[in-house]
Amino acid sequence: MEMFAELLGSARRAREQAYCPYSHFAVGAALLTSDGEIFAGCNVENLSFGLTVCAERIALYSAVSAGKRQFSGLVLVTDTPEPVTPCGACRQALYEFSPNLWIVTANLLGEQRVYRLSELLPDAFSAKI
Ligand code: THU
Repeated sequence: MEMFAELLGSARRAREQAYCPYSHFAVGAALLTSDGEIFAGCNVENLSFGLTVCAERIALYSAVSAGKRQFSGLVLVTDTPEPVTPCGACRQALYEFSPNLWIVTANLLGEQRVYRLSELLPDAFSAKI
């Protein structure tokens, strides 16, 4: 299968696992490593709302936990009239590893938009520390 179709399928399947009883806003993400593996994630909410973790960071941290540090693309899926872009916190988290990441946002109607992370997070926090 074409890699994008595979990523889209992974993100859609992950979205079905979203734990979102408070917002009812299910999100799925699939992250492609530069060596061709896919790590997926869904949003996981909590009664203590601030503990909620977005789908993108679940996918990213799962990949990093498996030893991956370089990524080439992320697909994000929501059931919205227009595709949505990753939140600011997730942009910064992704930027840490792959500032030039391709990001494709999609909805369930089949609409898609393509971005570069560097375009979604211009002048990102970046420092040698
Ligand atoms: N959410 C994500 O999973 N990714 C984003 O980029 C934006 C927001 C989740 C968090 C929360 O569970 C729900 O969507 C509503 O904000």
